[in-house]
Amino acid sequence: PVLVVDFGAQYAQLIARRVREAGVYSEIVPHTASAAEIAEKNPIGIILSGGPSSVYEEGAPKLDSGVFDLNVPTLGICYGFQVMAQALGGEVANTGLREYGATDASIVHDESVLFAGQPVEQNVWMSHGDQVSHAPAGFEVLARTGATPVAAFGNDARRMYGVQWHPEVKHSDHGQRIIENFLLKAAGLPADWNSGNVIAEQVARIQEQIGTGRVICGLSGGVDSAVAAALVHKAVGDQLVCIFVDHGLLRKGEREQVEQDYVASTGVRLVTVDARERFLTALAGISDPEHKRKVIGREFIRTFEQAEAELVAEAEADGQPIRFLVQGTLYPDVVESGGGSGTANIKSHHNVGGLPEDLQFELVEPLRTLFKDEVRAIGRELGLPEVIVGRQPFPGPGLGIRIVGEVTADRLAILQDADAIAREELTKAGLDGEIWQCPVVLLADVRSVGVQGDGRTYGHPIVLRPVSSEDAMTADWTRLPYDVLSRISNRITNEVREVNRVVLDVTSKPPGTIEWE
Ligand code: XMP
Repeated sequence: PVLVVDFGAQYAQLIARRVREAGVYSEIVPHTASAAEIAEKNPIGIILSGGPSSVYEEGAPKLDSGVFDLNVPTLGICYGFQVMAQALGGEVANTGLREYGATDASIVHDESVLFAGQPVEQNVWMSHGDQVSHAPAGFEVLARTGATPVAAFGNDARRMYGVQWHPEVKHSDHGQRIIENFLLKAAGLPADWNSGNVIAEQVARIQEQIGTGRVICGLSGGVDSAVAAALVHKAVGDQLVCIFVDHGLLRKGEREQVEQDYVASTGVRLVTVDARERFLTALAGISDPEHKRKVIGREFIRTFEQAEAELVAEAEADGQPIRFLVQGTLYPDVVESGGGSGTANIKSHHNVGGLPEDLQFELVEPLRTLFKDEVRAIGRELGLPEVIVGRQPFPGPGLGIRIVGEVTADRLAILQDADAIAREELTKAGLDGEIWQCPVVLLADVRSVGVQGDGRTYGHPIVLRPVSSEDAMTADWTRLPYDVLSRISNRITNEVREVNRVVLDVTSKPPGTIEWE
């Protein structure tokens, strides 16, 4: 792999994704990895990420300087550029001159392979206080800006380069080109990381792990479990059985999408557990959000384990015990739980039904090396329905935490109708790419007066909560076009009984969370 060394900013994941977009497989390693540990991973390229520190600060993240003797093509970015300069005998100074945001850069050595095919003047994204004042011996200065005389350097013989700006962010005009030039031209790597190859590789790996064993998978209706199960099915066919729990807190049409569209496109064997009554009974009389979450989580685990136990017993009776369980774990989860970065990005939520400690199965995790956008691409390549692979994030407790107040069958039906209308109109208006998700919330304990036809109504409000976000940790409310909002509002108040008012949530996160409960 190309190794992205993480110096503690949120940029390492972004860099790793850009490398893969260039067609080259990448992994993230912490800056504390020793040169020997890095060598052991057989890197075909190394990229040093940016970071929040100054190389002068006490405790500033360092890198084992032996990494520069591995004879592996290396690109330093921002803080990584400065670390590289310092380690190779150049100089880093704090001149008091800072650059943040959009900056004009001039390429002063345009024969360099790093800038091949690019304009000499570029708009780039900067974020630094310190700067490289002297390039190391043997390195040529490749670019400068108004405030930074050494904004990029390179040594073609050693295949080592560095840039002060952030080529991985979209605000840097030719950023992706720089990353591609480094990988494909300077390091001479083949661009062969794509969905087709990933599928072939994962299928082979799954077959090797599972052999002739039996395997089960829980489908949630979301992207990750759907793609994970489809991959496993492609690898071992009917050795796989999927369990889908319909807890009644799903969105309109979701069960049918799984039972019909998904099954038709993959051919997986599916067992649906209809637990709608069970969940309604358990939730009766409960309005407190945390209490609801606990009850939903508990009932989910119990329901799933019951279904699982039945399948396990059946399989044993057939002399074909189930030994494996599929999980849709993604690469960011692996990195965030200690597989990589120094910036412990605390996950605020877990999927409903975390793993029990005494797990009786061996895990199969075919998405462990993948980012979300890659999972979607693989899902499309496998022919899964767009309603599933393109789906917005949806909380495990489902609509249960989008009804402010007690959850009842009536209220669920109202919310499902309103939510379906909002989603339909947003999709029709081509806005799916712009929003991260748009929770639709029923204020079941609030009533307001309205007038419809000739009569006075006393109904419930529906809240629209469209948000834009990178990772759900922070979010801003999405400025949807008024005509789209107007269509959604008209349709909901006309078509959904009990609802006589639609309101828009214009709160960012923080202070408001994305969900209302
Ligand atoms: P909040 O409301 O905390 O939500 O801003 C952040 C993101 O997490 C989703 N979410 C959940 N996902 N189980 C989940 O799997 C949960 O209990 C849960 N609660 C919130 C939410 O939809 C948003 O994307």
